[in-house]
Amino acid sequence: MNGRSPYSGFAPGKLLLFGEHAAVFGYPAVGVSLDRGLRISVTPADGISIRLARPAGGDVAAGLSAFAAFVADTLGSPADDGPVSPAGGAITVDSDLPISSGFGSSAALCTAIAEWSLPDPQVSGHDRSAVWRRAHRLEAFFHGTPSGIDTGLSSLGGVRTFRFSTPGALPESAALSADLPALVVGAIPRERSTRDLVAGVRSRLSTEPSTVRPIFDRLGALADAAIGELAAERNHAAGLAPLVADAHHLLRDLGVSTPLTDGIIDRGVRAGALAGKLSGAGGGGAFYLVCPDAEVAARVAADLDGTLPPGSVCFHMG
Ligand code: PMV
Repeated sequence: MNGRSPYSGFAPGKLLLFGEHAAVFGYPAVGVSLDRGLRISVTPADGISIRLARPAGGDVAAGLSAFAAFVADTLGSPADDGPVSPAGGAITVDSDLPISSGFGSSAALCTAIAEWSLPDPQVSGHDRSAVWRRAHRLEAFFHGTPSGIDTGLSSLGGVRTFRFSTPGALPESAALSADLPALVVGAIPRERSTRDLVAGVRSRLSTEPSTVRPIFDRLGALADAAIGELAAERNHAAGLAPLVADAHHLLRDLGVSTPLTDGIIDRGVRAGALAGKLSGAGGGGAFYLVCPDAEVAARVAADLDGTLPPGSVCFHMG
């Protein structure tokens, strides 16, 4: 790392639109980076420490201290993602993303640290792949076997597609210039971590391949169809809605939704949304609903807002 400090940098969160879980097994995905994200400030220090600007409950502080050790190890070991140096930093994290909710807070943290740690030309140039590669290495701490789509969205930004051609390597990513339809986006606290959810799906794939493989095939086909829809020049609400509904039902069959998420989506549809699905690993966490227009989206968000459990967020975009 180049240890630039004092330093301050922002990395966005993300919303996965299609392809979560299946992407871990090589199927395509599409998502969008969010305006919300996470800022790190770094002051000079020996070694690496990470703390939150605003205290969060639970095991977050202990988790960040273990992550700081992982960052020091990872950045201190030679790899294909650029030069490293032993400089350190005291990193303070200020996030407007709920933590571990499916909005990519861990990917944004990894991206912000990767960006800080790389020499300027690799960060500010057009090619952001060095930031992505390094963020991806760091994200293994949180996810075990990340597909790379979360850090891809945070590092590269915009509406992006991901396709995997080489097993074990990062996917190829392309930007789509699509305007998304009006969306209601929210997140509820998670009952299980991404790491557990991904491991659970992997274990189900090995014990019940004849059930799980067809679900992946259909999730992959839906991601492809959504990418086709988004590439066309038209309002995408009507075209995406049936794909969104099908993808949610498949994720539910995969065992990664919860009754609470299913109920929120049903309520949003009763309030006027065309369809909704969970976004990200599930177990609670993020979801989105496609709406016919911004006015309906504002109404659906207002309807849901008062019904969500403490610690939830809900907003509309587009
Ligand atoms: O970061 P989350 O919780 O939104 O989930 C990441 C998406 C998965 O497909 C479940 C995992 C991955 O690495 O792609």
